Amino acid sequence: MPGAAPETPSDCLVFFGASGDLARKSIFPSLYRMVKAGTLTVPVIGVAFSSWSLDDLKQRAHDAVEATATGIDDAHAMERLLALLRYVDGDYQDPATFDALRECLGTCQFPTHYLAIPPVLFGTVVQGLKGVGLHENARVVVEKPFGRDLASARELNSVITDAFDEHAIFRIDHFLGKEEIMNLLYFRFANSMFEPIWNRNYIESIQVTFAESFGVRGRGSFYESAGALRDVVENHLFQIVALLAMEAPTYQGYGAVQAAKANVFKGMRPLTRHDYVRGQFKGYRDEEGVAPHSDVETFAAVRLFIDSWRWSGVPFYLRTGKCLATSAGEVVVNFKRPPQALFGDAMDPDQHPNRLRFRLQPEGEIGLGVRVKRPGEEFVGHERELLLPTESPLELEPYERLLTDALAGDSALFTHEDSVEAAWRVVDGVLTDHAATIPYTPGTWGPEEAAGRLIGEDGPWHNPEAHAATDGGN
Ligand code: BG6
Repeated sequence: MPGAAPETPSDCLVFFGASGDLARKSIFPSLYRMVKAGTLTVPVIGVAFSSWSLDDLKQRAHDAVEATATGIDDAHAMERLLALLRYVDGDYQDPATFDALRECLGTCQFPTHYLAIPPVLFGTVVQGLKGVGLHENARVVVEKPFGRDLASARELNSVITDAFDEHAIFRIDHFLGKEEIMNLLYFRFANSMFEPIWNRNYIESIQVTFAESFGVRGRGSFYESAGALRDVVENHLFQIVALLAMEAPTYQGYGAVQAAKANVFKGMRPLTRHDYVRGQFKGYRDEEGVAPHSDVETFAAVRLFIDSWRWSGVPFYLRTGKCLATSAGEVVVNFKRPPQALFGDAMDPDQHPNRLRFRLQPEGEIGLGVRVKRPGEEFVGHERELLLPTESPLELEPYERLLTDALAGDSALFTHEDSVEAAWRVVDGVLTDHAATIPYTPGTWGPEEAAGRLIGEDGPWHNPEAHAATDGGN
């Protein structure tokens, strides 16, 4: 079966969608950082259907890096990146585009093809590559969302696996390349003290919030085809849940992690319309590319159960949204209250049980919420948090990390077919069977219904605090 062997380093990176938004926002800055770090020395061929020239591509790469927070802080590295760039322009439907690509590849033998394009084009590009034999000795990196529902994910899997062996397929979920998210796995299994209480006997509920204070930022037409459930919940948030809920890997090696995560997806109970609140921020319908009567959700909150021995009956509440009160990602694990009310304040409904809080972004932090006695005669207390800021100065950008791994043939941080299909199975029903969106005011935490009906007595939601440096958009 075609596909570069796992240990073969690629000798060229081809990326489709070179004129797109993802390339500008994430890929060029990551390629630049890779050149700086010495992990990218092979040619990079951008492919797009934009009537561009190589100079246009170079200009875009330059501008994209210049627009980042650090800008171009190493002019030699920028020059080296520009010197590695090649460009092929053409329609992905046209076999001539793939002939031109083959010519451009010259003597390269082990390309990595990165599909940074809308999912509807994945099949066309894979077939185009196969048509000219460019799937041989190659690997393919596919951007999320991988399919639009269970049926299309299966179809896509079959098109891609028809051309590439599973070990040569790299399905990207860039959240898996984030330090704070990798740390969830490390934290759980490098410390043994949490394992005895990490189950339904001690955990009441788990919340995962991924909030963005900005809107769709010119991606209206993409968003219309996705919505918050497909864009963030089904992939990014489910991956976080899998890391939180998985059993311990049985051996050292990412294959064991992949298998343990796949079991979590398989144990997730399919969502019903009662587990799902959809919202749309006021003003979304005025965005370019958005239908005037659009019912696409820009906010999604779900209640999820994992039907396993460990998690039976423990609700996982997940929410994400655009134009919310702040930009932050947090996980909160709520532990059960003590079994007996020994102190005067024990039944106070405002009192939180113990909780473990993982702040995932914009900065990392782990907080353990505990109750301590207030000084004085009475046995009453208050909640204090043991706070552990995590280090991040050497952090690799997620795309930098993941593209470096893909070029090296290391698939540890990528998702597998069985997990992808199992995740779609969970959301498949509510993609079509759901209530209408509820409008919400930008700058709030979304529709009241998510705080009321959905989470009910398991609430309130823990709303992540703003961060002075990044709040208000990033
Ligand atoms: C992307 C979504 O996958 O993740 C975007 O398509 C979202 O809508 C983004 O804004 C969030 O990722 P990050 O790394 O920019 O916080």
